[in-house]
Amino acid sequence: MLRRLIAAAFLAAALTTLPATGASAADAPLRDLADARGIYLGTAVTGGRLTGGYADVAGAQFGSVTPGNEMKWGSVEPTRGTFDWTGADRVVAFAEAHGQRVRGHTLVWHSQLPSWVTDGTWTADRLRTLLTDHVTAEAGRYKGRIDHWDVVNEPLADDGTLRRSVFGATLGESYIADAFRAARAADPAARLYVNDYSTDAVGAKSDGMYALVKRLLAQGVPVDGVGFQAHLVLGQVPASLETNLRRFADLGVDVAITELDIRMTLPATDAKLARQKADYASVVRSCLAVTRCAGVTVWGFTDSDSWIPDFFPGQGAATPYDENLVPKPAYAGIAGTLAPVTPPAPGVCSVTYAVTSQWTGGFTAQVTVRNTGTAPLNGWTVRWTQPAGQRVTQAWNTALTQTGADVTASHLAYNATVPPGGSTAFGFNGVRSGGNPPPTALTCTPGG
Ligand code: G3I
Repeated sequence: MLRRLIAAAFLAAALTTLPATGASAADAPLRDLADARGIYLGTAVTGGRLTGGYADVAGAQFGSVTPGNEMKWGSVEPTRGTFDWTGADRVVAFAEAHGQRVRGHTLVWHSQLPSWVTDGTWTADRLRTLLTDHVTAEAGRYKGRIDHWDVVNEPLADDGTLRRSVFGATLGESYIADAFRAARAADPAARLYVNDYSTDAVGAKSDGMYALVKRLLAQGVPVDGVGFQAHLVLGQVPASLETNLRRFADLGVDVAITELDIRMTLPATDAKLARQKADYASVVRSCLAVTRCAGVTVWGFTDSDSWIPDFFPGQGAATPYDENLVPKPAYAGIAGTLAPVTPPAPGVCSVTYAVTSQWTGGFTAQVTVRNTGTAPLNGWTVRWTQPAGQRVTQAWNTALTQTGADVTASHLAYNATVPPGGSTAFGFNGVRSGGNPPPTALTCTPGG
């Protein structure tokens, strides 16, 4: 994908911003490391906390922000027809001031609805209009300023069938298509996602999501991406995560990890934090491995701003920073996984030329290519000049051409790779019309 190609260009830029002394690439902010690898690294934030040290870390480390609650229907329209965009505006303004993308979350969800929606009695037509009006109002307000919208959040039940929410029960699956179409019309530039939890592994629920996305695409519904919340448990990153992301990407949509956290039973110990580091690394690695994975968002970057302790008593420590904004091992797990991939050092090629027999008017020579480096030589090209009009008539174990006095000989498929310390040889017969002085300008170049 284009962004992955462009990413290589960002790599240099990201790394030139490193402080000069003793810093390594892994010391760069997560957002720069992620950019250089062609994904974004984002976080959910609480708008009301975006000051002081919390704001400093959110702004410096993350390339994308998601309002944790501020864009939900209950937050923006607590009373029918009365909108309050204060919290959502604050997060969007923060993102724009810090050069960050925004993941809009969320236009249609069965939870955190205003009571006037949940308590009302609606005909199907009325509910459909309410829903599309809401999508139009909210996506329209932030038109052009949202990178991804979670248009529909958590549409499925645990068994992968349509959740019997107020929307699902009253309108059936058609509400999903309506919401996406209204969102596309209101903000054509935003990438439109369907987002759910417990769809991270291959299983009944993700099979349901896969079938749903396929149906929507077949109907021409503008679904651009699928979000995988990834509210995970320590030591239980699904082994099938990467495979699962890839099968959705193969449908022709983007994928993203949208709400990553990895909870543990408290208290946190060094062993648990080390396990959590490996778990975070593994999730980020899965995203990097899938070309259409747009990025990873953590659901709160500090343990002081996580939903886990309130919803899972006795559990917590689920985010990459502790409650005092000190990075935990999980932070290093993410940074280490995002660290630039150093290309392997090329093998070092040296060459010798020996005449093995000669007779009146002709000769046979052997050329030996050696890898004097510490990494494998992946291909080689030998060049030389014949100083006395010698001409090659037949060569073996090489692809050889001669133009005037200049000869070029390259590897064939079977002798391209030469291990460190190893060698390979090729030979040729030549004709001559006098002496047979050794070649001049004999060189070997790796590759070719
Ligand atoms: O704002 C009130 C505050 O005035 C009151 O004093 C306090 C008392 O408990 O509650 C506050 O509201 C809480 C709100 O978060 C803001 O902090 C709600 O009680 C609480 O239920 C709500 O929890 C949110 C949760 O969604 C609701 O389901 C979490 O912050 C939020 O992180 C969480 O996010 C969801 C995603 O949207 C969808 N995927 C799952 C994820 C985790 O549940």
